[in-house]
Amino acid sequence: MCSIIGYIGKCMAASVIVESLKKMEYRGYDSVGIATLERDRILLRKDVGKVMDVDSSLQLNNMPGQIGIGHTRWATHGGITKLNAHPHTDCTNNVVVVHNGIIDNYQQLKDTLIKQGHIFKSQTDSEVIAHLIETYLKKFDDVKKVIIETCKQLCGSYAFVAIFKSGLIAGTRLDEPLIIGMGNDGNFISSDVLGFLEYTDKAIFLDNHDIVILDHQHVNLFDFNGNSVSRPITQVAWELGDIDKGKYAHYTIKEIHQQKNSIPMAFQIDPISLQKAVDLVSSSKNIFITGSGTSYHSALLAKYLFYKSAKIRTEIIMSSEFEYMSAPIDENSVLIAISQSGETADVLNSVKIAKEHKAKILSIVNISTSSLARLSDHYVSINCGPEMGVAATKSFTAQLATLYSIINNLCVNERSVDMSINMFGNALNEILIDDSYLEKIAEDIKSVQDIYILGKSFHYPIALEGSLKIKELAYIHAEGIAAGEIKHGPLAMIELNTIVIVLNPEDETYYDTLHSIHEMKSRGAKIIGISNKNNDMYDYFIKLPLVNKILYPIIEIIPIQILSYYLALKKDANPDYPRNLAKSVTVK
Ligand code: M6R
Repeated sequence: MCSIIGYIGKCMAASVIVESLKKMEYRGYDSVGIATLERDRILLRKDVGKVMDVDSSLQLNNMPGQIGIGHTRWATHGGITKLNAHPHTDCTNNVVVVHNGIIDNYQQLKDTLIKQGHIFKSQTDSEVIAHLIETYLKKFDDVKKVIIETCKQLCGSYAFVAIFKSGLIAGTRLDEPLIIGMGNDGNFISSDVLGFLEYTDKAIFLDNHDIVILDHQHVNLFDFNGNSVSRPITQVAWELGDIDKGKYAHYTIKEIHQQKNSIPMAFQIDPISLQKAVDLVSSSKNIFITGSGTSYHSALLAKYLFYKSAKIRTEIIMSSEFEYMSAPIDENSVLIAISQSGETADVLNSVKIAKEHKAKILSIVNISTSSLARLSDHYVSINCGPEMGVAATKSFTAQLATLYSIINNLCVNERSVDMSINMFGNALNEILIDDSYLEKIAEDIKSVQDIYILGKSFHYPIALEGSLKIKELAYIHAEGIAAGEIKHGPLAMIELNTIVIVLNPEDETYYDTLHSIHEMKSRGAKIIGISNKNNDMYDYFIKLPLVNKILYPIIEIIPIQILSYYLALKKDANPDYPRNLAKSVTVK
């Protein structure tokens, strides 16, 4: 959710940190702050707003000092205010802290600390960490011991990093990511490799309860008993390098257009990795699939595909509901966990529960160094490159492509389909060649209050995903409905000019969906048809190219993504940073 970066080295810390925060801003973007250590003074600047704006108003860039920490916030406890922005200091200004996660027992700790005379400046849960450190600094002059004692008091999830006046940076984590970057001109500590990838590709992924202490020369790691530990140095490649907008105005539209390449790429899974995934599934008696948001919609579509193509029954559980399901998950089960980031707390929690029941974990991730990938028995990478837009676009279609490939390999021969790189022919180019018709539709419908999206069978998860895109990008209420369900209630909502988008390519759902369209049209609805075949019922017709019927779900989401993007622009919303959201939801 929030992003954390710390730097200690030869460069001026603040300018390094500002650039790092810009790259990680997608994680959280309501306020920003930096603290540096200059001689023995801790300097602090922070405010509400995006990194670029706060940097130009407060000149974050110019802060002196070669040691610093920075943070972008996604508010959980306490409103979006300057005082609640991180970093937070203790009463003496001897220590300054940035935190990602939630301290569950913060109120209790805060009450005790206030009784002891501490003065709090913010309403955040995070500030208790600074005051606890202050307390233990009075008792121990060993930073490691101070961190250990502080953590003993904390319940919840955290990654936090502190600067001490003595010239050290220290950090630790529990269920929130924290990664060390080891550079030639300095070392980094960050919640995301993007925070330092421009400077170094050598990373150490901290385990839960690892403590790291950085000085100008050393990176020292300890466990919670104070013993030294060593962790492997990983070379982070990529993939992650490509994070500029290129010729596009926003990441979101760039990533939508990148699907021309990312979809075919996602079908090109390394055969050994694919076979391992197939073996894991075929050797399991029970197959569970989980994910959140868009990744949950991929899971729902997988259910149809598993059943229709491979005749395999699966159970789909939304990650945030996983712990409340008494599903018979056991050592004969596999949990397929789908997550772009691999850091979503609800997904990681589901995996933890499944592992406790001895189930195997197969994950489908974009970030192969993520916590989820590392917790899994096997992971398959969706290989679509970094996705910076908060709304999932290319990662959704890449997840589908990956699931198609796995399921296709589970089919007995006559049911499997050609999954070669050419299977889309020119279809992706055709869809993405010109956005102008979708932009026009966006202009026509931008003022509506509600949009309904209908689809049957495996078009239904696409209807759900399409409605999520419209909600998060354009702030218009949108609802995905299984086409056959409208007569069971939603029809009551249809009146003159209600906008209904219908997913209706020519497959076995075509005529049934057409019946639903007639029912709505006769009650005044305005129909936007997405199909390979036009029909008099459609007020707007978005033509889909002809492809193998099984592939329609992958391509029919694209026009809705584009429509949502233009709706956002018409409504003056920033499509890359939808209000109230964050790219990586690392709190439960
Ligand atoms: O990184 P994940 O795939 O685990 O993220 C899950 C959801 O938070 C994510 O899909 C979210 O719903 C997106 N904003 C949707 O566009």
